Amino acid sequence: HLGPKRPPSRKGSMADVPRNLMDELAKYQELLTVSPQKLKKITDHFISELEKGLSVKGGNIPMIPTWIVDYPTGEETGEYLAIDLGGTNLRVVLVKLLGNCKFDTEQSKYHLPSDIRTTRDKDILFSYIADSVAKFINDLYPNGVPKGKILPLGFTFSYPCTQSRIDTGVLQRWTKGFDIPGVEGYDVVPMLVSQFEKRKVPVKLVALINDTSGTLVASRYTDPATEMGLIFGTGCNGAYYDRIHNIPKLAGKLQDDITQDSPMLINCEYGSFDNEHLALPRTKYDIIIDAQSPRPNQQAFEKMIAGYYLGEVLRLILVELYEKNLILEKYKSDNEGIKLLNEPYILDTEVLTRIEDDPFENLEDTCTLFKEKLHLEFTSPERKLIRKLAELIGTRAARLSICGIAAVTKKMNYLKCHCAADGSVFNHYTNFPARAVDGLADIFDWKLQGLKPEDYPIQIVPSEDGSGVGAAVAAALTHRRIEKGLS
Ligand code: GLC
Repeated sequence: HLGPKRPPSRKGSMADVPRNLMDELAKYQELLTVSPQKLKKITDHFISELEKGLSVKGGNIPMIPTWIVDYPTGEETGEYLAIDLGGTNLRVVLVKLLGNCKFDTEQSKYHLPSDIRTTRDKDILFSYIADSVAKFINDLYPNGVPKGKILPLGFTFSYPCTQSRIDTGVLQRWTKGFDIPGVEGYDVVPMLVSQFEKRKVPVKLVALINDTSGTLVASRYTDPATEMGLIFGTGCNGAYYDRIHNIPKLAGKLQDDITQDSPMLINCEYGSFDNEHLALPRTKYDIIIDAQSPRPNQQAFEKMIAGYYLGEVLRLILVELYEKNLILEKYKSDNEGIKLLNEPYILDTEVLTRIEDDPFENLEDTCTLFKEKLHLEFTSPERKLIRKLAELIGTRAARLSICGIAAVTKKMNYLKCHCAADGSVFNHYTNFPARAVDGLADIFDWKLQGLKPEDYPIQIVPSEDGSGVGAAVAAALTHRRIEKGLS
């Protein structure tokens, strides 16, 4: 960052913030702060919910077996295409697994038209994906694909899908604001494959995977200490390998070569943790966000912590402060002035990042952003308050997010391991990783034991490209099983 640095936080820097705003701030602090004690309680409840999800009866957390039943060794080789349907982009990646824990990638990004999330016609989504893959292949082979060549393809589709095999995926429900009719309850693979066939795209879809599963296998390909794949992005979720004997719901559904001790990669889909509202410190803002979402009563955990929702928490608080006549006084005479602030989802997580990264205590660098996004000018004390609110919202999200890691590692008794993380919040929200680590340390009492962050036994590490390389590794593992006559 060029320009003056933020002065070190000093006593009295909030001195010009009026008393009534400071009183409000104290209330928000109370509401949004999660104590170590609470984190521990949430984690314990989380463990029992993970176990419920694996039981025959099932629970709120889907705990989806992915049929990835091997650990990558790093020796897998081959050339694969991967498609990654993320929240905002579609990526097509050519992955060359070189063995020896090495790989090469070449990729193109295609911006997803913003209204595609809620298009009424599912073919628009799947045609868009097929067209993008066709374009990528044309660019890759300007003189045409060699005759007879079919590219094996891994499809990273980051929504909860029930899988009876690795190359199928019945969408349970859309998450992260997607809402396209006619897909929930159906296998998405034929929807995509038929679009490939229409266009004669020379690919064979061999694996459908979740971004968390991809993150896990991609990082495990290069680092055998990896035990979890995590996404802190538009959504929040984790994957890990469990053992068949811990997964009662799989009884009777297994191939002969799979023993009680075999690993099975589980896509937890723990964004839906606590849909019953028994453990999380839910606020009225979380309740509003849930009620106004396309899928109320689902993804309770995710809606409190993930990138898709964080800016909305800030917006709701600002609206509340305005309605209480505590901020934006000069706009009171004309309600038109705050029209944009009343628009749901107008603030995204990037705004929180920008606020927290602003070198000025009173957010001088963010004024233009407020002006552009909201057509509003906040006073200097108001901006100081906004910074504190962003810190509270971001800290709450980071601390709650890691309860998933704590729960899985505790359940599996992983005392020392790497958890590979990816996602826009993890990668771009500057203060997020350190806060997440701090939350984890609170749960495991590492600080009390005098450990320094670099010595914490569970390390959250940046992942390899899960949605690209991970899809390729999953495809390679499938290929190996098919060659052995298994599937
Ligand atoms: C949502 C999706 C899940 C995905 C996560 C992160 O929780 O349901 O499949 O892994 O977002 O992208």
